[in-house]
Amino acid sequence: MQRIVITGVTSGFGQQWLYQLDKQPDIEFFVLARNKHKFQAMLKQQPLKNGVHFVQCDLMSIDSIHAAADQINQLTDSIDILINNAGHWSDKTFTPSVDGIESTLAVNQIAPFLLTGRLLPLLAQANQARIINTASFRHTDAKLNLDDIQLREDFNAERAYCNSKLFSVLFTQSLAEKLTDSRITVNCFDPGIVDTPMLKQALPIWLSPFYGLIKRVIARSPDKGAETGVFLSQSKQGATQSGHYFKDKKIKSTAQAAKDPSLMQWLWQQSSQLSGFDYSFDLDTHGEGNK
Ligand SMILES: NC(=O)c1ccc[n+]([C@@H]2O[C@H](COP(=O)([O-])OP(=O)(O)OC[C@H]3O[C@@H](n4cnc5c(N)ncnc54)[C@H](OP(=O)(O)O)[C@@H]3O)[C@@H](O)[C@H]2O)c1
Repeated sequence: MQRIVITGVTSGFGQQWLYQLDKQPDIEFFVLARNKHKFQAMLKQQPLKNGVHFVQCDLMSIDSIHAAADQINQLTDSIDILINNAGHWSDKTFTPSVDGIESTLAVNQIAPFLLTGRLLPLLAQANQARIINTASFRHTDAKLNLDDIQLREDFNAERAYCNSKLFSVLFTQSLAEKLTDSRITVNCFDPGIVDTPMLKQALPIWLSPFYGLIKRVIARSPDKGAETGVFLSQSKQGATQSGHYFKDKKIKSTAQAAKDPSLMQWLWQQSSQLSGFDYSFDLDTHGEGNK
């Protein structure tokens, strides 16, 4: 039995990722989402073959993430795959989460940081576990302000998004290094430009009338967008290689900034401070793992 925790399946290519994983038998899914009705409607249209637990979770709320992690801890004693796929592209103005954290940063970095940290002890109980983070080629357009991670002083939604995706790559590499002696791998990937609701939101307003044309010319289907995520979930490479950025099922090089150890350290410290969570790497990895 494989136990898979996944976010971001109620829209976009995360849906296809879930259904493609569901083609294999013996899976128990833990789907974290904020809108239960939306998920139920999705299942009504296309049921899952494997078992699924719906776990209510608004990734823009630290309390909600803790509650979801508590619930998963009640439901299982091990996790084989954690998929941090949910993503957010903000409105034009600075919008804080309930915790006062800029919303793009909250969903795209603080949530995966906290959720992963909370679930690490369960991942350590599997024979071999994987963490997969959805990043983006837009990480190459990041422009950080090290004194203002939230861009409070000069907010721009596109910049906040690009920064958050650089954070996904930095976080993946830091965590992989910290987990070197464990049975847990962590990788991230770029799905390419995918025809999803987020793509429409990401377009500058003046390009909106051409959305139909743009998506036909440059975007790939949600099925294709899910391909590398599915590959990392199922391939031997996803279980043996760690700390990499993939595209089209291959390791790709990242922007120079994503290789900077001082940025990795800075991001870890900021994420810890904003989430109020300190990782423990004193993992009990001596269990026999999930059979
Ligand atoms: N589309 C692209 O071209 C592209 C390119 C590179 C990377 N990406 C990345 O790929 C991932 C998936 O994006 P997509 O294009 O499939 O976007 P999408 O269609 O907008 O889907 C985003 C998913 O994240 C969930 N989500 C957002 N905020 C949440 C919150 N506060 N709590 C819980 N769930 C939340 C959404 O839930 P709801 O259904 O409730 O809204 C939805 O399931 C994201 O990380 C995105 O940054 C996308």
